[in-house]
Amino acid sequence: MTEKVSITIDGKTTELPVLKASEGRSVVDVRGLIAEGIFTFDPGFLSTASCDSKVTYIDGDAGILLYRGYPIEQLANQSNHLEVCYLLLNDELPSQSQYDSFESSIKSQQTVDPNFQNIFNGFTQGAHPMSMVSAAVAGLASLFHEETDITNADDRMQTAHRLIAKIPTLAAMAYKHGRGEAFVEPNDDLTYAENFLNMCFGTAGEDPNVSPTIAKAMDRIFLLHADHEQNASTSTVRMAGSTDCNPYAAISAGICALWGPAHGGANEAVLLMLNEIGDESRVEEYVNKAKDKNDSFKLMGFGHRVYKNFDPRATVMQESCHAVLVEQGVEDDALLKVAQRLEKIAREDDYFIERKLYPNIDFYSGITLKAVGIPTELFTVIFTLGRMPGWITHWNEMLSAPYKIARPRQLYLGESSRDYVSISDR
Ligand code: ACO
Repeated sequence: MTEKVSITIDGKTTELPVLKASEGRSVVDVRGLIAEGIFTFDPGFLSTASCDSKVTYIDGDAGILLYRGYPIEQLANQSNHLEVCYLLLNDELPSQSQYDSFESSIKSQQTVDPNFQNIFNGFTQGAHPMSMVSAAVAGLASLFHEETDITNADDRMQTAHRLIAKIPTLAAMAYKHGRGEAFVEPNDDLTYAENFLNMCFGTAGEDPNVSPTIAKAMDRIFLLHADHEQNASTSTVRMAGSTDCNPYAAISAGICALWGPAHGGANEAVLLMLNEIGDESRVEEYVNKAKDKNDSFKLMGFGHRVYKNFDPRATVMQESCHAVLVEQGVEDDALLKVAQRLEKIAREDDYFIERKLYPNIDFYSGITLKAVGIPTELFTVIFTLGRMPGWITHWNEMLSAPYKIARPRQLYLGESSRDYVSISDR
């Protein structure tokens, strides 16, 4: 029997069905309320499920993250990013031949049209790479939108492959443009992560020389960021995509949403914060600033909207981070010492314990990326690469079933209707 809840407003009772989840919380289906002229109020969507989805499950209290049912720890330890891309897009892990054909599809589409590469010349050298990457992804529509039918499942999958293939190339081009260096062409002999690193840090015309440790850490960072259900950027992709705009525009909107320091920009903000603190001796002062209600300063890389126990990705990333620090021999780096002291104090301080503010994945990915020598301005771009399969999978999932244009309502608190007064009479 369907469970129901009743609500009574102005003496009228309405029954609302409760929809059962396969895992986690059931939700009250409030869609019937519109017929009664009632809206719900939930700024920031803290208690609203905006869609149903079969992609990713998070239990923030238990610290569980599953991609298509598979625990993130198992995927991080046994899989790789490209296999996870296939899993997200296709519901199931690939057989060897499916994996091989997916990998060759990605590798065959890594290059970017030489004319299109001129888009980067329109940007100043100091432009943030996220502005270049978001513009370049939106610009891909100029090359491919005409041949994409978003109502066709094969075309949508083709778009997914194309975006996963080209995003490392565009990201590396943005980076190289910022450095005033020549672009390095994609190399099919390298893995996904190796190729990205080579396009960023290699030199055009020279043989690749990528550290396996750094490539492994990078692949893990991509994999850990691959999806995170209805977060701000993914919800942005769904919202933009619900207008039937081209997929490149929808994904570009998601990239812009990811840029903010409360979301994907947090790993960059972690490093900026560590730089500002500068020395271990000042950590306590900054912890006190973070606790001060009259100070807007927050400890970047701490806290999460969903994980109120621990972030399972942070646990995996912490292991990688410590391994990388040892292998790179940089445990004595001043900023990394600041980070370690900060982590210790925050984990022991009542303010953080009571509010369940634990170091999140960005804290450890920021430190890891710094330890392997990745420039700070590339951090959010790396998150963008990782999140691409998640965004495109959610876009595809939405378009694979009936959907409506996203159009929230509001609680209006402004003026009631009043007459215009001419400027001379005001
Ligand atoms: N430093 C200090 N205090 C904090 C922090 C922090 N990083 N985060 C939250 N708080 C405090 C708040 O001031 C609030 O205190 P109060 O109850 O005394 O008013 C309490 O903890 C609850 O905070 P909310 O803002 O309600 O938590 P919410 O779930 O809305 O926000 C968020 C989560 C945005 C991630 C927040 O913790 C934050 O800004 N963290 C720093 C930025 C960051 O690391 N973002 C990355 C998110 S993960 C990702 O995108 C992959």
